[in-house]
Amino acid sequence: MKQENSLRSSNWFARGGKDGFIYRAWLKKQGIPSHELEGKPIIGICNTWSELTPCNSHFRELAEAVKRGVLEAGGYPLEFPVMSLGETLIKPTAMLYRNLVSMDVEESIRANPLDGVVLLCGCDKTTPALVMGACSVNIPTIVVSGGAMLTGRHRGHSIGTSDIWRFSEDVRAGRMSNEELAMAEAGMCRSDGHCAVMGTASTMACMVESLGLSLPQNAAIPAPDAARKVLSQLSGNEIVKMVCENRRLSDILTRESFENAIRVNAAIGGSTNFVIHLLAIAGRIGIELNLQDMDTFSANIPLIANLQPSGSYFMEDLYYAGGLPAVMNALLQHLHTDCMTANGKTIGANYADAVSYNKEVISTLEDPFNAVSGIVVLKGNICEDGAVIKPSAASPHLMQHTGKAVVFEDIDDYKKRIDDPALEVDENSILVLKNVGPKGYPGMPEVGNLGLPAKLLARGITDMVRISDGRMSGTGFGTVVLHVSPEAAAGGNLAIIQEGDVITLDVHQRRLYADITPEEIARRKAAWKPVYPQSTRGYVQLYQQHVEQAHLGADLDFLKGSSGSQVTRDSH
Ligand code: FES
Repeated sequence: MKQENSLRSSNWFARGGKDGFIYRAWLKKQGIPSHELEGKPIIGICNTWSELTPCNSHFRELAEAVKRGVLEAGGYPLEFPVMSLGETLIKPTAMLYRNLVSMDVEESIRANPLDGVVLLCGCDKTTPALVMGACSVNIPTIVVSGGAMLTGRHRGHSIGTSDIWRFSEDVRAGRMSNEELAMAEAGMCRSDGHCAVMGTASTMACMVESLGLSLPQNAAIPAPDAARKVLSQLSGNEIVKMVCENRRLSDILTRESFENAIRVNAAIGGSTNFVIHLLAIAGRIGIELNLQDMDTFSANIPLIANLQPSGSYFMEDLYYAGGLPAVMNALLQHLHTDCMTANGKTIGANYADAVSYNKEVISTLEDPFNAVSGIVVLKGNICEDGAVIKPSAASPHLMQHTGKAVVFEDIDDYKKRIDDPALEVDENSILVLKNVGPKGYPGMPEVGNLGLPAKLLARGITDMVRISDGRMSGTGFGTVVLHVSPEAAAGGNLAIIQEGDVITLDVHQRRLYADITPEEIARRKAAWKPVYPQSTRGYVQLYQQHVEQAHLGADLDFLKGSSGSQVTRDSH
């Protein structure tokens, strides 16, 4: 057990006089005697449980399992809530509030008598928000993910969130009735847990495991599987050890661990949202990481996990095939195996013996599911600071494509005109959507995989090149260029792209450009004025004034880095 006087919490509970009286007395009203608080590691359980976050609605049970583990190891658990972000209900977009939650987490940890923290993360933004906030305090921290839901079922087929995009297009094209859509809705979400495909929530769970922030197998155990509670209890054990050994986030999160995470993300076909969240986390813990690193470190990694939306299977299948440990084992020659992880062992030690039990789901480097993977970073006169595309979710025949722009000035303009029979568009056109970036929407929503015009869907067209300064759901797919930076609202060149401009996407050459001269760009920019809605109060105004561009992670500029774990004043 750690010496009492070296515990952060002893600054509260080991005190005499009025201060110690107050700190202890008000916990006694919850039936907690003094001996539980003095000399034991106090472990905060940061809970994003909410009935408004359906993916995290089972977190009270997980918290109980964590508590058992903390008590068993000689610590004392205190659970606390933070703002929770559910992807499906929150408007205008959960991403608008990621940074707000990170502030809630950071200040809650620092302000309270905690020696270590367990982060309960599930739905997309809850993972990066909690990890970002914890990084800015940097005390011993472990992540427990909520796990994916069981695979959905519809008319004898497996379904998952990625099918929603197909169902939607089928209904618009008249291939699916509303009655059948309602049946699919009833079979989609069969259990506790987050989206069952390699969407953003699953990507984030894989990210924390590959960074070393969780116990092995955290990423893929299904939410309702009893093993999820076992892992939660073991994580409760582990956080007490982490406090005793003073193993902090900065001991785990190194430049090399971020490179590992990028490579693993390529191998699993992870979400493009990985880019923006990993950059933001690196910014908080003080690791130099840039957009180009996403391409550089994933360039020679093939897709070895056959998971929707890039492949065929579901998170449940990934777990039965060996989970993320089997993927990381297959990748070991590309990983920094000496990186430290939460359990005090290295990546090499944790994953050396993992095996794939189903090569259809987890293949090998020699016989990958797809040679194309990862995130490609594009540059050109439409995206001066970069844009991203996920080739494994795109159509091979569109990877090199030139077409005329059909331009939508904002999402309302798109909704108004996309199904207009008079819209001049064909399958070679390139759909361009502006003003859905961090400042412009605001909050950078997941609208980048724009639905295709109904008249092209009716002709059987299933993919077109689409470009925007927004994001795409990790469950989405298509030849979709995202995160154009600088965004239109910030005066990036995207803002001056006009109807009929000839645009070329060349994924192999990492190029995205419009056939416009620098003189013409300058002429158009001189006449350009921002047109996005600007908030005049509250958090949204703060966000719009301080949010950074996508290629930097879209954090608030004043949140970068850490303020450490010291409280600034002692008020009692
Ligand atoms: Fe929560 Fe998909 S809606 S993970």
